[in-house]
Amino acid sequence: MLEETLQPQADQDQETKTWDAAVVGAGYVGLPLAHTLAAAGRSVLLIEVSADLVAALNRGESHITDIPSAELAPLVHEGRIRATTEYNELRNADAILVALPTPLSKQREPDLSILIDAVEQIGARLRTGHLVILESTTYPRTTREVVLPILERTGLKAGRDFHLAFSPERVDPGNETWTTKNVPKVVGGITPACTERAAQLYDGAVDAVHRVSTPEAAELTKLLENIFRSVNIALVNELAQLCERMNIDVWEVIEAAATKPFGFMSFQPGPGLGGHCIPIDPFYLTWKAREYDFYTEFIELAGKVNENMPYYCRSLISQALNHGRQRSLSGSKVLVLGVAYKSDIGDTRESPALKLIELLRAAGAELAYHDPFVPALADHGLESVELDPGAYDCVVIVTAHSQIDYADLVDKAHVVVDLRNATGADGRRNDKVWTL
Ligand SMILES: NC(=O)c1ccc[n+]([C@@H]2O[C@H](COP(=O)([O-])OP(=O)(O)OC[C@H]3O[C@@H](n4cnc5c(N)ncnc54)[C@H](O)[C@@H]3O)[C@@H](O)[C@H]2O)c1
Repeated sequence: MLEETLQPQADQDQETKTWDAAVVGAGYVGLPLAHTLAAAGRSVLLIEVSADLVAALNRGESHITDIPSAELAPLVHEGRIRATTEYNELRNADAILVALPTPLSKQREPDLSILIDAVEQIGARLRTGHLVILESTTYPRTTREVVLPILERTGLKAGRDFHLAFSPERVDPGNETWTTKNVPKVVGGITPACTERAAQLYDGAVDAVHRVSTPEAAELTKLLENIFRSVNIALVNELAQLCERMNIDVWEVIEAAATKPFGFMSFQPGPGLGGHCIPIDPFYLTWKAREYDFYTEFIELAGKVNENMPYYCRSLISQALNHGRQRSLSGSKVLVLGVAYKSDIGDTRESPALKLIELLRAAGAELAYHDPFVPALADHGLESVELDPGAYDCVVIVTAHSQIDYADLVDKAHVVVDLRNATGADGRRNDKVWTL
């Protein structure tokens, strides 16, 4: 009985509590952002559609490796972070930061449906004094052409009644050196006052804030960063294919070029692009550019080269089996080592390993995978198996997790195809090892 009377009171307290910020979307971007703000003394409400995730977060349990539960739990227990599925609670927050997915449709066009639905929800609760910041990656003019009209339908005006800005999230999951806190925050508001208000929110929570004159400049900054990576990765992927024909070690060339102290930045070839950003974001700009009769040819070309890499890797595996094992791909036992999109994390979104698995299976390979961070690939009906390299005709290193003993792996395997230079110079000199 006591519990019954206390509980509604507690709920009422929660509903009337005010928050410095609400972060909409508690994923790879939203949770680290909430954590950074809360660690700097702000109170943060997480609005998240998944009820299970909300319950876990309110128990202090984190699902994002970069924010260990041991760091999250004290902030939750002190009441500085709380999660809810209830959009109505936005009314009690001073600032609303949107960190929601911005995927591509099947036709590879921007799909802003999740974002638009959420902005409608925010608009329905917008009040004078609110600050709204979009953090999701998107094409230039989204803040002005998509978000602003929905929010101004309320009769409130940006820059006068509420503030609106874009500030791209630049987090790199798994990167222990560069975090949400110490990567400078780029901020561009609809008006100078909007920029200032947004910058004030981050001030003190992140190490540096860089102001730009418009949301468009901030939106394009993020895309430039990701396009830069996509184009440079495509360049070395193309070079790797030429090097194979010319019998030149591409890794040795890249290592040598990287000794130049200026004017060169090292990128590495690989089985294709992965993750939520680099395979997707450049096409947001390609799509928008068409509205201006402009074709972003560098982006398209990079996409073409990078998307071909899993196919190229399949033929490399086939050659390795022919020469190293006198077997065809069809009927061979192949172990894919590492299915996350990059080392030492468990995120498989857009991972090139998934494409390679499909291609190898379609070619008739008997396929298994091992990944210490990914226990199962439900969509592919696969579970991670023990690492027993000798039990396979070929082991393909697709993602180089640092906890694997690669020298031991090469020792025990019949044939290794190393798509990440995980076996290093020793591997490249070993007849059993085939590299990109
Ligand atoms: N993951 C990265 O490394 C990274 C880096 C920089 C920028 N970004 C960008 O940040 C944005 C968010 O990406 P992410 O990786 O954090 O996505 P995510 O999928 O990890 O997280 C999004 C969260 O939002 C929740 N959600 C979905 N619809 C919702 C709704 N209507 N209301 C409330 N919650 C909802 C989901 O359940 C999920 O927990 C994207 O635009 C992405 O491109 C991502």
